[in-house]
Amino acid sequence: MQKFIVTGGKRLRGELRLQGSKNSSLPIIAAAMLCSDECVLKNCPRITDVYAASRILNCTGCKCSFSGNTAVTDSRCMNNNEIPENLMSEMRSSIIFMGAMLGRCGECNVSIPGGCELGPRPIDMHLAALRKMGADIREEMGRIRCRATGKRLHGARISLAFPSVGATENIILSAAAADGETIINNAAREPEICDLCGFLRKCGADISGDGESRIVVNGREKLHGCEYTVMPDRIAGATYLSMAAASGGEIILTNACVSEMEPFLSVLEQTGCSISADENTIYLRNGSRLKAVGDRIRTMPHPGFPTDAQAVLMSALLKAEGTSVFEENIFDCRYRHTDAFMKMGADIQVMGKIAVIKGVKRIYGTSADATDLRGGAAMISAALSAEGTSEIGSIYHIDRGYENIEKAVRLLGGDMQRVGM
Ligand code: UD1
Repeated sequence: MQKFIVTGGKRLRGELRLQGSKNSSLPIIAAAMLCSDECVLKNCPRITDVYAASRILNCTGCKCSFSGNTAVTDSRCMNNNEIPENLMSEMRSSIIFMGAMLGRCGECNVSIPGGCELGPRPIDMHLAALRKMGADIREEMGRIRCRATGKRLHGARISLAFPSVGATENIILSAAAADGETIINNAAREPEICDLCGFLRKCGADISGDGESRIVVNGREKLHGCEYTVMPDRIAGATYLSMAAASGGEIILTNACVSEMEPFLSVLEQTGCSISADENTIYLRNGSRLKAVGDRIRTMPHPGFPTDAQAVLMSALLKAEGTSVFEENIFDCRYRHTDAFMKMGADIQVMGKIAVIKGVKRIYGTSADATDLRGGAAMISAALSAEGTSEIGSIYHIDRGYENIEKAVRLLGGDMQRVGM
């Protein structure tokens, strides 16, 4: 099993090019299934979740291959609409292939993606919406069999009880190839939704309103391939900025999506670091001890503070002057990284959805397993600002979303190695 060995105490300094977005690449790879020919997807991160998405595409007879950060997909030979359980369980987002397959061939057979490390993640909204669009859905022994009752799904007016990112994506994917108009009310407004819609529009889809809470999709019988560049990863960006801030460093983040990162940057700025930005570059400098964030940090759907950045920002606040308070409103079980932080000497109290962080002067290296993707990245960040050496295990969680994270940290002057087989 591989581990990361991280020795803290170095100020991170330097320039880093931000990787492409995981949460955009996954639905866009699924969307490529809707196209009748080749798609060239640039700026795809080389991470295990993206490879899992490509394996799903390949198992349906579509092709997906990589050359560096470019993925080339070809969906002409699709011949299978059944995804085996082992592929479905590799990542929770495999569920978005359901909408794409229903859109492409009016039929699919997938398995329930299963529980995950952030607590229960139901898919009731996905299923209710697809049923409203004419899908007959049967759940038997962990499998979900879906079939359009007509030849294709039909458009529908859908109001989501919560702006779920995955449900919004599944509806968009199936609606893009459905018969007629679909209206999604209370749609998720995450930038990755806009990226998916941007890709689909380039393939000939008729979609408007993405980025707002009412999205309108007019189904098309056929979509064509295109060349598309995936947006930068705002959460990886938040991670490297938090690491640099925690270490008292200085970083230039290029290829960044500055406006999409505003909800994070405006909170990080309250810690007293100096942040400036132009169109796609962020400069961060922090020469002194960070200050606690005065306002409660509430995770919310976009444009609120992103839940995916909660753990990494917390890692920067462990040694801040004063007390910071987080309120996690999206997932039930998203403070599991706090055990490792406390083992490092952090002063944290968790009560349900609230976590209170009282800044301490020092934290110390420890051994701990990554609990989940962002929690694992946050442990690396904490380890970089701790005294001594940390050993972080279960790093397969981290590899799901970060492209060569140890190389990025070392480029910034951090001391981090990957060891083991
Ligand atoms: C996506 C992101 C994930 C991010 C999350 C919230 C991807 C690949 N993943 O996950 O990184 O943390 O958005 O920004 O893009 N829910 C239901 N029923 C449903 C669907 C969701 O109750 O049918 C609940 C979930 O349990 C959760 C909340 O809604 O509590 C938000 O989930 P959702 O927005 O769907 O997150 P994901 O799409 O899974």
